[in-house]
Amino acid sequence: MVTAHTPLAQHRAAPRGRGTLAMAMMFVVVIGGTTGAALGHMTGARADVPTAAAELTDAGGVEATAEARDERPAPDVATELPTPEVATAEATTACDRDGVSAALDSGDSGAVLEAFGGAAAFREAVAAGTAPCIELNDARWPWLVVNKHIALEPLEYEPPDLTSPAERNTPYGYLRAAATDAMDEMIAAAAEAGAGGIAVTSAYRSYATQESLFTGYVNSAGAEAAEATSARPGHSEHQTGLAADVVPCDYGCAGMDAFGGTAQSEWVIENGWRYGFIVRYEEGRTDVSGYSPEPWHLRYIGPELAEVYHEGGYHTLEDFFGLDPAPDYVD
Ligand code: DAL
Ligand code: ZN
Repeated sequence: MVTAHTPLAQHRAAPRGRGTLAMAMMFVVVIGGTTGAALGHMTGARADVPTAAAELTDAGGVEATAEARDERPAPDVATELPTPEVATAEATTACDRDGVSAALDSGDSGAVLEAFGGAAAFREAVAAGTAPCIELNDARWPWLVVNKHIALEPLEYEPPDLTSPAERNTPYGYLRAAATDAMDEMIAAAAEAGAGGIAVTSAYRSYATQESLFTGYVNSAGAEAAEATSARPGHSEHQTGLAADVVPCDYGCAGMDAFGGTAQSEWVIENGWRYGFIVRYEEGRTDVSGYSPEPWHLRYIGPELAEVYHEGGYHTLEDFFGLDPAPDYVD
């Protein structure tokens, strides 16, 4: 922010009558030329003062008359030009906290959250718009948001570290390494708690796979139904390697449509956050997500943020991060 004192406040007002005439002459004699005109303007002197008291000399210069010489007032000129004061604004974003830059450079999401002062403070800063160093479409991080407004960047993004859950995995069960480990732990914990078996039926899907899936839905069910159940390629959480569709397995495994309402589903709603998972497309949130409810679609955001999500009673990532609802594509 730049502030400056006004020069007018520091100088006397121009005298009137004879004084005005004499003063105007002084401008001509003492200062002359455009500099004098400029200073006269700065000090509030009239531009139309008569110049009869000044006579041109033979040499082309200007000589003051006796009258003017006798009543010569102190020059009303700025002897010292004011110096503008430049106030430097304090940097106030959460990104300026000690350690944030280094944590971002390290690629360690836990370190980033810690540098922000914890996951709750991180969420708060992002939602308040005071964390300009956090881009929610950056696929390196577990807080990545992909929806009908936010596409993957690049559109054909491929996760770098896909691995497959050990528990009842399928050829389509690949997730990013951290999400795979968390899924293994969660499946084991659900079984141990007596909630029953859970298996991953569809996790990472490439751009090409999502494209053929989406096109298949359009062809079989029509565009409207397809848009409510399947993401366009480049807009699916499955392409991030951070989302998995799960199925209940008791005596054999059922389809994902059968997951909602099971003991496994109830257990995941209550406990999934402990392992970093949230149910991404809940009942009653279609106007925000653009999708019909999918109790089987679990999204890994990491245990720290998932705890804040659970404790805060959030139901969509859009609300969690203060984003606009994204029920439709913008293009
Ligand atoms: N079924 C979810 C919305 C997807 O296709 O990513
Ligand atoms: Zn899914």
